[in-house]
Amino acid sequence: MDLQDARVLVAGASGALGGQLADLLHERGARVVAAGRDADRTAAVASRVGTEPLLFDAVDTDSCRATVTAAAEQLGGLDALVVCVGVAGFGPAVDADDAVVEELFAVDVLGPMALVRAASAAMGERGTVVVLSAILADLPTARMAEYSAAKSALATWLEVLRREERRRLTVVDVRPPHLDTGLDGRALAGEPPRLPAPFPSADVVTAVVEAMAADKREVVFVDGALVVR
Ligand SMILES: NC(=O)c1ccc[n+]([C@@H]2O[C@H](COP(=O)([O-])OP(=O)(O)OC[C@H]3O[C@@H](n4cnc5c(N)ncnc54)[C@H](OP(=O)(O)O)[C@@H]3O)[C@@H](O)[C@H]2O)c1
Repeated sequence: MDLQDARVLVAGASGALGGQLADLLHERGARVVAAGRDADRTAAVASRVGTEPLLFDAVDTDSCRATVTAAAEQLGGLDALVVCVGVAGFGPAVDADDAVVEELFAVDVLGPMALVRAASAAMGERGTVVVLSAILADLPTARMAEYSAAKSALATWLEVLRREERRRLTVVDVRPPHLDTGLDGRALAGEPPRLPAPFPSADVVTAVVEAMAADKREVVFVDGALVVR
């Protein structure tokens, strides 16, 4: 896609990856609307990219839909959606709390799916959908059963979406490894297991924007390096 003047909604712009992606897309000439849950961090990103902030809660699919509608109204349409919403949870699968599992799947799967459905409706004949899943979709990990299962479900859904909408939507699934954003310290429950040394999130951000500009399908981590393909 041509990023110059592209109308882009970044959902989860209040987070580390989302904020950096909003900034880089803005730098590359896109018109970016920042949406998040935390009002202050979302407003800070919005003021950097020069648009009105939008607030939503991913567990509330009506608010996901309303956010996409408001972004499209503000931008006069929508060319791309970037979903950077996500939350982790740690601990043995058999010990997980029902409420935590529900919230994790709502934030990591159901909310992103609702955002994408609403964006698809707003995009018309062409559009780009970028969603952060995770390497765990390919490498389910002990003490991260729910997070692995959620990301795997999301990645599978994106694959089907890509097939169904191949003539209309470019679907980019981003599956990075453990990053330096501190996500593991904001988990819904539990303590993280021993994780590999964090990979720089700035490199993922650059790769995602490259993937968008070149209409690629995924950003993955292979043999210690990011691959855009
Ligand atoms: N960091 C990693 O190691 C890593 C690796 C692979 C994939 N990922 C994925 O990359 C994405 C971004 O993660 P990050 O590293 O940038 O972490 P982050 O800084 O914690 O960002 C997470 C984002 O999710 C949002 N969020 C959480 N719960 C929400 C809810 N109920 N409603 C609306 N928004 C909600 C947060 O919003 P607020 O801040 O406004 O609450 C924030 O914008 C996630 O999907 C994550 O799973 C991360």
